[in-house]
Amino acid sequence: MRMATHLLLLPVLCVMVSSLLQCAESTESTPAPVWPPHQRTYDHRPTSDPYCTAGIIPFCPTGLPPGQVPKVKETDTLFVYAMKAPVWEFRYGSLLKKFDIMHDAIGFHHVESGLNITMEWYELFQLFNCTFPHLRSEGKDSYKLQWCNQGAACLYMGIDEKHWKENGTLVKISQISGDIFNNFITWSLSDNTTYPFYETWTVMAGPGKNTWFNPFDCASWVLRAFDAMHDLGAKFDQSVHLNYTKVVLYSQQPILIGNASSIYNDSKTLETLVDFYNYFQKRTMADIVLHMLEFYNYFQKRTMADIVLHMLEYLAWFELHKKFYIFYNAQYWELDMVQPYFQLTYDEVPLPSKH
Ligand SMILES: *[C@@H]1O[C@H](CO)[C@@H](O)[C@H](O)[C@H]1NC(C)=O
Ligand SMILES: *[C@@H]1O[C@H](CO)[C@@H](O)[C@H](O)[C@H]1NC(C)=O
Ligand SMILES: *[C@@H]1O[C@H](CO)[C@@H](O)[C@H](O)[C@H]1NC(C)=O
Ligand SMILES: *[C@@H]1O[C@H](CO)[C@@H](O)[C@H](O)[C@H]1NC(C)=O
Ligand SMILES: *[C@@H]1O[C@H](CO)[C@@H](O)[C@H](O)[C@H]1NC(C)=O
Ligand SMILES: *[C@@H]1O[C@H](CO)[C@@H](O)[C@H](O)[C@H]1NC(C)=O
Ligand SMILES: *[C@@H]1O[C@H](CO)[C@@H](O)[C@H](O)[C@H]1NC(C)=O
Repeated sequence: MRMATHLLLLPVLCVMVSSLLQCAESTESTPAPVWPPHQRTYDHRPTSDPYCTAGIIPFCPTGLPPGQVPKVKETDTLFVYAMKAPVWEFRYGSLLKKFDIMHDAIGFHHVESGLNITMEWYELFQLFNCTFPHLRSEGKDSYKLQWCNQGAACLYMGIDEKHWKENGTLVKISQISGDIFNNFITWSLSDNTTYPFYETWTVMAGPGKNTWFNPFDCASWVLRAFDAMHDLGAKFDQSVHLNYTKVVLYSQQPILIGNASSIYNDSKTLETLVDFYNYFQKRTMADIVLHMLEFYNYFQKRTMADIVLHMLEYLAWFELHKKFYIFYNAQYWELDMVQPYFQLTYDEVPLPSKH
């Protein structure tokens, strides 16, 4: 998130290599020597594979189509709200709040008309599909890894106050002009085509250490949107403090293993990936999150035997394999996991302010 500090890491990493010449060579053969790499940009949103369909919850059912957002008068006033609610509240109530697993969104209140607008960025085909691919059989012993991992902005009229307030947060953070709002909507349309893909994981070298990969999720969008509003002239209430959920994996420097097409040329790599994704594919995302919660919770207080059993299941995976695979910027990366392997973090990111 804070690119400046990580850009500084490159020379540090290079100095660690025995000679500068070697560093130049290794940089050439490693496509992403700057950690964390920027999210890949696109000039249009690719069409999803027809295989990808939304399950029970369709994406953005009541959303306003792009271009149909009402323009407001330049001199109008809008209140801006930061909003949070526990993930899967409809299913688990406030349970995930206890673990700070929160979904983020932005609300607008148009003072002149009294109308409210909600804007959020999330998965087109749900979280599980953004986290693990489907293994599509293509004949005997032949698999294709199918990702359904697009994310997008959804803008709809109204703010469901109960939803955001009851187990979450709804706090005013700024007051902007109609002009800033109109420009922000223009920004959101272009952002929506520039960054079509969702990334669940944060990958770091260790707690408090450098970041290998930033996530690209609802919170990343909210933070990007605040920055965009700030660039357009919005001033934020600095007395408001907001924390954001991250699912962090800890590993040594990620190793590039191939892209979405080259992995099919390497049967050993493909086999490893298929085994790995097969293991996780059998579990639902809710199971995985709950097991991760149990895993995490285990270190704070011991609980029931079955919880320990689930925890052991995951600990066993990491202890045995010490490997994790992620798909980032359309490339597959191998992670050599280091303790504590994974963690849920909920740290503050300050609202943008003038420097
Ligand atoms: C994930 O994608 C698959 C394949 O398109 C689809 O069948 C399934 O319903 C999706 N899952 C959810 C929870 O939407
Ligand atoms: C963003 O893109 C998605 C997918 O094409 C679309 O459904 C949605 O309406 C767009 N959001 C905005 C705010 O334009
Ligand atoms: C808030 O959490 C409680 C307890 O889990 C739940 O009963 C309630 O429905 C939640 N509120 C909303 C708006 O979902
Ligand atoms: C908009 O939100 C404000 C503040 O949450 C609320 O007082 C008002 O009733 C809402 N207006 C509409 C039309 O929903
Ligand atoms: C896969 O291998 C074939 C034959 O060796 C080669 O022509 C092709 O460029 C390779 N594709 C990728 C994506 O590496
Ligand atoms: C994938 O990698 C192969 C081999 O390195 C390369 O030839 C190909 O252009 C890459 N494809 C994409 C879409 O980046
Ligand atoms: C929010 O993050 C700060 C540090 O980033 C931390 O000190 C504080 O405890 C966090 N608040 C909550 C509610 O977790």
